[in-house]
Amino acid sequence: MSTTATRGLADSLGRLGTETAFSVLARAKALEREGRDIIHREIGEPDCSTPLHICEAAAEAMRAGQTHYCPSAGIAELRDAAAAFLSRTRGVEVEPTNVLVGTGAKPFLFFTILATCNPGDEVIYPDPGFPIYESAISWAGATPVALPLLEERDFTFDLGDLADRLSARTKLVILNSPQNPTGGVISPADTAAAADLLAGSGAWVLSDEVYSQMLYEGEFASVSSYNGLLERTILLDGLSKTYAMTGWRCGFAAVPEALVDPLTRFFVNSTSCVPPFVQLAGVAALTGPQDEPRAMLEEFRARRDLIVAGLNDLPGVSCRTPRGAFYVFPNVAEVPIGAEELADRLLQEAGVALLPGTAFGQVGKDNLRLSYANSRENLGRALGRMRELLEAL
Ligand SMILES: Cc1ncc(COP(=O)(O)O)c(C=O)c1O
Repeated sequence: MSTTATRGLADSLGRLGTETAFSVLARAKALEREGRDIIHREIGEPDCSTPLHICEAAAEAMRAGQTHYCPSAGIAELRDAAAAFLSRTRGVEVEPTNVLVGTGAKPFLFFTILATCNPGDEVIYPDPGFPIYESAISWAGATPVALPLLEERDFTFDLGDLADRLSARTKLVILNSPQNPTGGVISPADTAAAADLLAGSGAWVLSDEVYSQMLYEGEFASVSSYNGLLERTILLDGLSKTYAMTGWRCGFAAVPEALVDPLTRFFVNSTSCVPPFVQLAGVAALTGPQDEPRAMLEEFRARRDLIVAGLNDLPGVSCRTPRGAFYVFPNVAEVPIGAEELADRLLQEAGVALLPGTAFGQVGKDNLRLSYANSRENLGRALGRMRELLEAL
């Protein structure tokens, strides 16, 4: 009797992608264990600590016994606070009953796609874009339709390209602004024009706005604010980036009525709930003093200016000035080796961990992605090491 079939893996695993940032982080950590000095530019998280009053709210909640299961959709206090925050910042009326809380923003990406897409449905998503979009679309058996972000448009899409891709088969459109990996920001005018196009289609919209509070200039605009689109938009935000809470795993979204129950069922089936003491820390984040996130943003602005100027000064490198998030996406087409080999050699030979643009889709084949959420001193050191390697090529 053969026993191999019982130990086989699911065929669907072949369609499951990954987030290269975590594998590069693991390689970089392995090099550190060998005694190498590595400057980390690969992972996308603020380098500062979670503000103390947020930590204290969690500690107090733990002492008060908020350490048990709680409702899968989220506790009322955080659903209320998130509804107020989303209503205030997007200029729409979000009801607390439409707000769901998840273990970070990430599960909303996967579960929204699973809850809305059948095999053969088309999903439009940004390329370059957060890799989980394409991974989840493929895993669901749906068809990924890449919407190219154009470097010459400061990494935003051309409205004609969006119009060309919308069809009767489009089930979901994913937008992300401010954007990972490029720092691109969709202008209010383009957001309004995209909302017009989307209003004319029957598709769901997933608007990934986890960097909504990280904008250096101009106005933030959400597609959910236009044409009554909130009714079919999953408006996604969270605590990870704004409040330096990546490890707490808490995100939230305002979701259309028809998705409240299906998405809650995904949470029931997977994580059960976000720990209540974490959610109460989230309430403290959203309703407490905002001076630390503001100061963090100002520091990031200074680092952005430093890294953009430094990269533009390197041989073969050109870098646009991003208007949001904490990433730069320099073009290295003029460097004599390809971006993937360059990223690899920068880690192995120069001890600078960063990502090739292809970690985010084929459109980024000539680019690198660096997070600048690191001290100015380390950014300067990284630039120095990059220069040394580039000059030796
Ligand atoms: C565009 C985008 N969406 C979602 C996420 C996930 O955020 P969270 O850590 O809250 O799950 C990230 C994290 O890097 C991101 O860059």
